Amino acid sequence: MADYRFLTIERTDAIATVTVQRPEKLNALNADTIVELDAALRELEADDAVRGVILTGAGEKAFVAGADIAELAKMGPLSGVRISRQGQDAFRFLERMRKPVIAAVNGFALGGGLELALACHLRVASENARFGLPEVKLGIIPGYGGTVRLPRLVGRGRALEMILTGEMIDAAEAHRIGLVNRVVPQPQLLEAARDLAAKIAANGPIAVALALQAVDFGYHATTDDALRLESNLFGLLASTEDMREGMAAFLEKRRAEFRGR
Ligand code: COA
Repeated sequence: MADYRFLTIERTDAIATVTVQRPEKLNALNADTIVELDAALRELEADDAVRGVILTGAGEKAFVAGADIAELAKMGPLSGVRISRQGQDAFRFLERMRKPVIAAVNGFALGGGLELALACHLRVASENARFGLPEVKLGIIPGYGGTVRLPRLVGRGRALEMILTGEMIDAAEAHRIGLVNRVVPQPQLLEAARDLAAKIAANGPIAVALALQAVDFGYHATTDDALRLESNLFGLLASTEDMREGMAAFLEKRRAEFRGR
């Protein structure tokens, strides 16, 4: 892996953990961190040995406390559009990855930090996590996909309440409204995220990749187009060794050993 200034990447078995490393700024995303995040995710996407990614923030206080306000304060209209597009493109790449990305939200997930978590496929939170889109308090709106993904995940009314008030919600409320998949005590957070990633990594990687693709496409497509893609991907899997292995293992009452072929 390349060397990164604002990220660390640790790999255990098939799971890579990417940690945003700016704890003194509550892991706020400056432009360089977004560039690095994009590059790191592209490296991990291309590496067939990686079957899942966990994304978290350094320290015990913040996942990511937003885009870097010191940088945003200098933006003009055109650079504002550019900054927003760069973040959106990086997060959209993440959302369309072939392997699952799990946000391990270990504290504040605000603004761009919540938007980053929303672009991940699954979210696990520690009990001290706090979620919010406080952009209107700064006179701006979410610019990394928050106005698009939050309503889709939790419903328009709940999303608008968060976007218009800018107030934070706690982990229990985030769980109640479906914003996070599970909440655990902070010392168990990474273990919980790894358990989830390991469960997925034990499944057929091509099947996992195509399931991610079907759900992503289905979200934006007509029902008929989405069903057609689902059938085609379903049929495509019949060409894989993994399908034969998965079904043989079931019939032989043993664990399947998927090889991603
Ligand atoms: N951008 C830049 N710097 C940030 C930041 C951000 N989004 N969030 C936190 N920081 C910096 C603070 O400026 C401070 O730096 P300093 O020590 O050099 O002064 C440091 O991180 C610690 O934050 P601090 O505000 O002192 O911690 P706190 O516990 O008092 O408050 C928050 C925590 C999360 C409530 C508060 O930092 C906050 O509101 N952050 C901004 C959240 C936001 O609006 N995000 C959306 C951006 S679009």
